[in-house]
Amino acid sequence: METKVILTEKEMPTSWYNIQADLPEPLPPLRHPATKEPTRLPPPLFPRALDEQEFSKERYIEIPEEIQEIYKLWRPTPLMRAYRLEKALNTPAKIYYKYEGVSPAGSHKLNTSVAQAYYAKKEGFKRLTTETGAGQWGSALAMGCRFFGLECKVYMVKVSYHQKPYRRIMMETWGAKVVPSPSEDTGIGRRILKEDPDCPGSLGIAISEAVEDAFSRDDTLYSLGSVLNHVLLHQTIVGQEAKKQLEKIGVYPDIIVGCIGGGSNFAGVFLPFVKDKIEGKKPGLRIICVEPQACPSVTRGLYAWDYGDVAGLAPIALMYTLGHTFVPPPVHAGGLRYHGMAPIICHLHRLGFVEARAEYQIPVFRAAVEFARTEGIIPAPEPAHAIKVVIDEAIRCRESGESKTILLALSGHGHFDLGAYDEYLSGRLEDYEYPEEKVKEALAHLPKV
Ligand SMILES: Cc1ncc(COP(=O)(O)O)c(C=O)c1O
Repeated sequence: METKVILTEKEMPTSWYNIQADLPEPLPPLRHPATKEPTRLPPPLFPRALDEQEFSKERYIEIPEEIQEIYKLWRPTPLMRAYRLEKALNTPAKIYYKYEGVSPAGSHKLNTSVAQAYYAKKEGFKRLTTETGAGQWGSALAMGCRFFGLECKVYMVKVSYHQKPYRRIMMETWGAKVVPSPSEDTGIGRRILKEDPDCPGSLGIAISEAVEDAFSRDDTLYSLGSVLNHVLLHQTIVGQEAKKQLEKIGVYPDIIVGCIGGGSNFAGVFLPFVKDKIEGKKPGLRIICVEPQACPSVTRGLYAWDYGDVAGLAPIALMYTLGHTFVPPPVHAGGLRYHGMAPIICHLHRLGFVEARAEYQIPVFRAAVEFARTEGIIPAPEPAHAIKVVIDEAIRCRESGESKTILLALSGHGHFDLGAYDEYLSGRLEDYEYPEEKVKEALAHLPKV
């Protein structure tokens, strides 16, 4: 009846797992935003090493020692059995969660920010720019940059900048410069503010600003916190650890559940497991991605070529998209307000290896509060979407009498999201309907490839 499964530092994986070695069909290429031809990552935006990782077919890519040393500040992270939640739900299901909230920045995002800062430094750059939604990614990059002596500039989606002042202060504590996006610091920001001074911002806009900034300086690269293959790759340390932890207690999951914004935390957890499904060893394994009803790219979007950002500076990817000009309603899961989705997740969904669901934020917060009141941890609003589905599946087990094993990707804590909890607890939280008209309008602007 152990509650935690712990690995020692010596047992921490020393390579990232690259799904591209095992995909039954290769990924579609990225395309250049101007020429529309297949492209690598646009130089000089990303370190060369990350461009190599983006397209690599090597199954395992070694994690450099310097990165492993920093990972050891919080890794390996615990795998927990949610006995108290199971009991409260009166379910025969066995619920496990892999908890990334123990990292100094409070989420999985440090697994890639440390790696991205390391490669930028190694290739002689001095500064990184990025966007952030909820502030989790920005704070992770701020710490990564600090550890390698790089400057960091963060364009923070305006609605989150105002909802989450403590995330900004956290980034500033690690030495980053933070501005609300759209901002006056870039051409695209100034253009959007002129058209709509009250624009709440979106990840697509903030990405355009950060990319424009990086393009404008020789000493600066751009860093993306999700979506791209190399980001998902860095997160696979999470799933590899979870697999080892479950092996230690002789368990294999029936269902894996995680939230998807750009897809990185969940991919990090499920990719080492989906390998077994692709190889036919675990045909019954179910993998469920959960997104907000207010920004439902996989469940309601088109599978189409689209830009990664509003201004059309980022490469074009074949993915589920709501249109790169779509500005999602200001739900509290800021990290899930992205118009597109990681091509790896979309590809696996198309091939039938992954299912998707969309949830409204009020039932999501109800699930989060139930989790907090049983397991103690106050989850971030993003993984709370996954908790909602885990609880639904556990209740289904109660009804059917099946004792399924469910693995939850618990990507971070919600200590900086208490304003959202306050709204929920005082009955002020609103649900947003699927913004059909706005999506239709945004989908009219897809690039012609
Ligand atoms: C705690 C947490 N989970 C999940 C996400 C969603 O991003 P991704 O889908 O890349 O994991 C975010 C994004 O900010 C986040 O902060």
